[in-house]
Amino acid sequence: MANSPSSSSPVIRDVIAERVSRRALLKGGLASGTLIAGGSFVGSLFAGETHAATALSTLGFPELKRVYDKTHAAAEGYETTIVARWGDPLVAGLPDFDGNKLAADEQEKRFGYNCDYIAFLPLPKGTVNSDHGLLCVNNEYISPSVMFPGMTEDDAGKTMSKEQVDLGMAAMGHSIVEVLLKDGKWSIVEDSPLNRRITANTEMKVSGPVAGRALMQTSADATGTKVLGTSYNCSGGFTPWGTVLTCEEGVSDLFGGDPKKAPTADILDRYGFDGSDIYGRGRFHDRFNLDKEPNEANRFDWVVEIDPYDPRSKPVKRTALGRMSHEASTVVLNKDGRVVVYMGDDDYFEYMYRFVSNKAYDPAKPASGNDLLDDGVLSVARYDADGSMTWLPLVHGQGKLMAENGFADQAEVLLKTRLAADALGATPMDRPEDIETNPVTGRVYAVMTKNKKRDQSKVNPANTRPENLWGHIVELIPPGGRGADADHTADKYGWDLFVLCGNPKDAAVGATFHPDTSDNGWFVCPDNITFDPTGRLWVATDGANDFDLPDGVYGVDTEGPARGLPKLLFTCPHGAEATGPCFTPDGTTLFLSVQHPAEDAETLDKVQTPWPDFKDGQLPRPSVVAIRRKDGQPVGA
Ligand code: FEO
Ligand code: CA
Ligand code: CA
Repeated sequence: MANSPSSSSPVIRDVIAERVSRRALLKGGLASGTLIAGGSFVGSLFAGETHAATALSTLGFPELKRVYDKTHAAAEGYETTIVARWGDPLVAGLPDFDGNKLAADEQEKRFGYNCDYIAFLPLPKGTVNSDHGLLCVNNEYISPSVMFPGMTEDDAGKTMSKEQVDLGMAAMGHSIVEVLLKDGKWSIVEDSPLNRRITANTEMKVSGPVAGRALMQTSADATGTKVLGTSYNCSGGFTPWGTVLTCEEGVSDLFGGDPKKAPTADILDRYGFDGSDIYGRGRFHDRFNLDKEPNEANRFDWVVEIDPYDPRSKPVKRTALGRMSHEASTVVLNKDGRVVVYMGDDDYFEYMYRFVSNKAYDPAKPASGNDLLDDGVLSVARYDADGSMTWLPLVHGQGKLMAENGFADQAEVLLKTRLAADALGATPMDRPEDIETNPVTGRVYAVMTKNKKRDQSKVNPANTRPENLWGHIVELIPPGGRGADADHTADKYGWDLFVLCGNPKDAAVGATFHPDTSDNGWFVCPDNITFDPTGRLWVATDGANDFDLPDGVYGVDTEGPARGLPKLLFTCPHGAEATGPCFTPDGTTLFLSVQHPAEDAETLDKVQTPWPDFKDGQLPRPSVVAIRRKDGQPVGA
């Protein structure tokens, strides 16, 4: 999920509109699948087709056949366990979960809604254990239409009661759960003192150049350094010093009031604030009403650092990493010890960013990491047709980033990151989602999920297709060499288009997968990616439902004869996207968030899949799934 470009409507509503129009098409009989009683699709566009040309691939599993169904599926030889569901207790002694009766105070003690990014941090701290650890999971947003009877996505903001609004605030944010692998099955340690929820009500600190500035001050916080909570936590990252980064992905539609009347109307406009208040917060909480607290908006859309090993620690909003519709914040320790963070701004025509710390991290002193993310240089990417990419520094006093252009100092450059990047001539991308580094080759992969709004006049070398409904993956090539030799601090990289996504059999799409890609193997709308320990890319998709296909997880070689040849490992149930893929250090478990199951239902009574419990009266429950080989060998081998 992501928010809007500049001043138009948020992406969540675009997505819903796309889904609604998809449903209308289906009702009109244009679907390629078969609609059975109860509304489930069976079969697939490609079931029954076989394919034998994947011999080149290093991926050893038999490819899954795509089925868009009520439940999930994994390739033969693999098994799945539901590890953490929405509402699972994080403390002992809670009653059995009933989503129909849940209140906000109880939700604060239970696993949150719509799981997204996952980090696995081993226990004990400092080990590389792969059978015991902390799952640190973002809970991005809520789906009122499949949580509350009679409610639609469109009317939720106006009709949610205060109790429902507060439940929503408690269901979003982040969940930390201790998990243990026993006899091949993962489960939550229910009474762990490390289990924790971080929500829209958790007090956090602001650090870095923007902390304390006038634009960060509100009537509740004259210091501009203390914020209540975080929301729209989409993707993230983790650091060498054992903390997790959670990204606030564009809160523009969480606020009510009139942004045009605010003293900061120009900033609010560039960040897409439209007063839509889609979860009703502004009706009950003044701080989410722009007419009353316009500066509260400036205190969101940051990267938040959390220490999951210390349940009493206060999360920190790191303003040096810039303010945007934050997707990933992938951390790389450069060979000289400096800390590099790759970030995407997930909106139409937005940019890719990189932060490089000024000081080096000392692995012998993990605490030395604590403030590295407050002091460094943020840059934005410009792609050129000659195959080079330049990182343009967002530094006050350089280029156009001067007071006469609206940037009084570095704090203003950071608070208005998008406006600063506009001024430098960065390259507008097709909604930058995840950016991850290949541990073997040192190359960096940046996912553009899709951009239906780009027309022919706006194509550029790194975003080549108008009306890009399918997305693509860009490959960045830092200088310096392979693996740890790659220089992630260099000003210039090389780049290539790794794959253009979509159906390779449709010439009009222009997909560029490996020619041996099977009818089950191609994908659309990549969102989150990760690498296994051997350097294979794993892609989770968000948007295949618009093509009557399940979202899922695909393994892809990035080198050798099968470069760009994806294979399907896992499919999601109806209405769900696959997100947050995360390997244990030994690569034997792939954790995955199955987000918003059944969200394609207009209202709760039309839900097609009460996944994963399939119990009468139970609501669909977004959940983290563990995917393992039945013989315990590494996933994909
Ligand atoms: Fe929340 Fe950019 O996906
Ligand atoms: Ca997503
Ligand atoms: Ca995402």
